Amino acid sequence: GWEVADGPELESEWYNFDALNIKPDHPAREMQDTFYVEPKNAHLLLRTHTSPVQMRAMLTRELPLYIVCPGQVYRTDELDATHTPVFHQIEGLVVGENISMANLQGTLQLIVQKMFGQDRSIRLRPSYFPFTEPSVEVDVSCFKCGGAGCNVCKKTGWIEIMGAGMVHPRVLEMSGIDAEKYSGFAFGLGQERVAMLRYGINDIRGFYQGDIRFSQQFK
Ligand code: PHE
Repeated sequence: GWEVADGPELESEWYNFDALNIKPDHPAREMQDTFYVEPKNAHLLLRTHTSPVQMRAMLTRELPLYIVCPGQVYRTDELDATHTPVFHQIEGLVVGENISMANLQGTLQLIVQKMFGQDRSIRLRPSYFPFTEPSVEVDVSCFKCGGAGCNVCKKTGWIEIMGAGMVHPRVLEMSGIDAEKYSGFAFGLGQERVAMLRYGINDIRGFYQGDIRFSQQFK
């Protein structure tokens, strides 16, 4: 029942931040992190994550909601081996009755098995995002050493691959959904990061430099 949802790359500040319970003084809004678009009073920016599609989907679609949203996102990061100012994420969002942390856990487990192999397991660590409560960082057991510890997992046996959590009741309510009756979960992962792990790519700039030898290695 999952559907692919879409949203604009040139996004309003409201969808990108306010609707996700990210307060006006949150550091993620700063010019150092975010590409704002002139004129300033238009409150437009290049979306810094795919999470604004959460609110767009909640406002326009019927419940229960099962969506994934792949797309391009922008941050004013310095270009280096693991950062580019433009990259891709995949967002997931489920909202319905009786949606629990167990549903989130089961979904994440399935995703990592499909992406990294049947034998992989997940580990959830407490974290913080303004739009989910509780929030978690999701680790996958290392697909290279199986958890024993190696250079890929930096000897920890685990690799961090995404952020996730239960949709904050305030976010549900901002979209007019009754948070007493409905609940939901969301997750977001970086596409390049997953591809780099899976295919042993050590420099993210390869995705964007247009050198044909980069794509030919996957033939
Ligand atoms: N949007 C968050 C980020 O870019 C990831 C996230 C998505 C976290 C959904 C929780 C739920 O860091």
